[in-house]
Amino acid sequence: MRTVVITGGTRGIGGALADRLRQAGDRVVAIGSADADLTSIRQTAALTNRLPDKIDVLVLAAGRFDKRRIVTDEGFEQTFAISVLSRYLLAERLRPALERAEAPLILNLCGTGGIRAGRINWNDLQLADGYSLFRATMQGARANDLLGAGFAAAHPESRIRYVLYNPLFVDSGMHRQFRQPTRAIVGASAALFGQSTDASAALLSALLAQPPSAPLTALRRRAPVPLTRPEFDSSAAARLYTLLAELTGAH
Ligand SMILES: NC(=O)c1ccc[n+]([C@@H]2O[C@H](COP(=O)([O-])OP(=O)(O)OC[C@H]3O[C@@H](n4cnc5c(N)ncnc54)[C@H](OP(=O)(O)O)[C@@H]3O)[C@@H](O)[C@H]2O)c1
Repeated sequence: MRTVVITGGTRGIGGALADRLRQAGDRVVAIGSADADLTSIRQTAALTNRLPDKIDVLVLAAGRFDKRRIVTDEGFEQTFAISVLSRYLLAERLRPALERAEAPLILNLCGTGGIRAGRINWNDLQLADGYSLFRATMQGARANDLLGAGFAAAHPESRIRYVLYNPLFVDSGMHRQFRQPTRAIVGASAALFGQSTDASAALLSALLAQPPSAPLTALRRRAPVPLTRPEFDSSAAARLYTLLAELTGAH
């Protein structure tokens, strides 16, 4: 029986995956905002102390988005806090528990190999100037590519495989986080063009049954994304990794 920890496992894609894996007999620990507020470094760190000491699969699927710039009590822009800081911290802090498993895997649901518009705003990571939902989401997508590259480079001896996975457009209910009129537009588009959460979870469950063997893999659904793309630049990954160690270490 595998132990699978899923952040964002209470709803949407993560919720559907949690249901599917439980039915298949896995032990699933699903984390939602009532279990820990992953926009908080302090709560994310505390959560890692409550999780099992052997973890086969860590799925990073928690996300929160807002049209307004929201700053956490710890001084971070919310999107950056949940999609970058918490994912960095969870992967690093849960590494010992993952290393105890036979074939450990981190599955990071993100916008890998996605829209070229996304970029890291190195001089203003918290987007104090010119925040927009799009900029914050795209910066998060690019940062997650670098998180995967950074993890693989920082732990070359590790048995943990890291998979960056873009589910593409899924009718997950994520649009409920948005305000009108974005909420109505995204909701209607997702219902028309999005994949169902069940179908998305079925693809993920098949991936977990036959995971890639490379230390780092990037996928857009089933299609591999070449790691030679600029999104995975090793010096940018090292730069971000160093920055995140400093930011999370100070808390
Ligand atoms: N849906 C898509 O089309 C799509 C496309 C590309 C990438 N993705 C990525 O895939 C992942 C899952 O997306 P989704 O559409 O399934 O999202 P979703 O339906 O909005 O679900 C978000 C999940 O994150 C949790 N969450 C939100 N804020 C949290 C917080 N502060 N602390 C802890 N947990 C929190 C929610 O828990 P509660 O319910 O307890 O608040 C929920 O389980 C996200 O990272 C997203 O960026 C999605």
